[in-house]
Amino acid sequence: MTNTTTTAHTNIALIKYWGKKDAQLRLPYTDSLSLTLDGYYTTTTTAFSDATHDQIYLNKQLASTKFAQRTKNYLDLVRQKYQVEQHFIVQTDNFVPTAAGLASSASGFAALAGSLNKLLNLDLDNTQLSRLARLGSGSAARSIFGGFVRWYHGNDDETSYAAPINNANDIPIRLLSVVFDTNTKKTTSTTGMEHAVQTSPYFVTWPQIVQQDLQQMLHALDQKDLKLVGQIAENNALAMHALNWTARPAFSYFSADTTDLLAFIRRLRQQGLLAYATIDAGPNVKIISSTDDISVVQQQISQHYPSAQTTILKPGTAIH
Ligand code: DP6
Repeated sequence: MTNTTTTAHTNIALIKYWGKKDAQLRLPYTDSLSLTLDGYYTTTTTAFSDATHDQIYLNKQLASTKFAQRTKNYLDLVRQKYQVEQHFIVQTDNFVPTAAGLASSASGFAALAGSLNKLLNLDLDNTQLSRLARLGSGSAARSIFGGFVRWYHGNDDETSYAAPINNANDIPIRLLSVVFDTNTKKTTSTTGMEHAVQTSPYFVTWPQIVQQDLQQMLHALDQKDLKLVGQIAENNALAMHALNWTARPAFSYFSADTTDLLAFIRRLRQQGLLAYATIDAGPNVKIISSTDDISVVQQQISQHYPSAQTTILKPGTAIH
């Protein structure tokens, strides 16, 4: 039986994607910028099936209805796009806590797109793959590439894709993933951003904020100014979460631990350590730091939050 396996790494957005102007095509309102991470990834194997339905496995077990349905919807889309009739067996192994706000959908759909590309002999290059992965989950468009990546929001399917930013790859960045909670999140990114777009009176300001932060971030990367990278990323993440706090009804991904850790990170900075926070659609935090400071940051976090799970992450590679 022919099968193909692809590995894709997760990414953490330093300039966030939050809001779609086209839900079907997953076209965002704004560009976003991320760092692909080595330690968290998804490996996906696809094969043709003789059955009349798709079979979806997650971590060696039949996937939950919710996970299977999202995957099947994507397979339907791929079947339609490339005029394929057959069904598939999809085996996904997540080396990421699924749906804890750690972007498993990013590595997941990037790996699935990459694996189907080979299985179906589509011969897509990485730009085309980025567009295809985007249709599964927006942030997956960025997980096709390694290092720092920019997703161009575009106006249609053709113009919305990600590309690597190559001039910053030697910046000595490290991240500390701090996981308080690996339970499935209550509000998915898809639902959360839709609600913020529709109801936050502040959403109109978001594209301007992103444009400004993105320009400054590109400059900071160009200058290899890691402190500035951290500052801009933390500000941008908090601005994204402010959209949720100001939605109606308001909601938040933060737990009491999240808020407490934000204050603790400020204290680390007062001690002279390079430490800035970024947070996605869940209570867990990633701390942006440097090769010099990361061990001390990890030590301090582990001491202060003994039950939190901490992992040091380095820049990761493109799909393979
Ligand atoms: C907060 O890519 O998960 O992580 O396109 O609806 O699948 P969908 O959303 P998703 O959203 C990611 C949101 C974020 C910020 C980011 O990664 O840019």
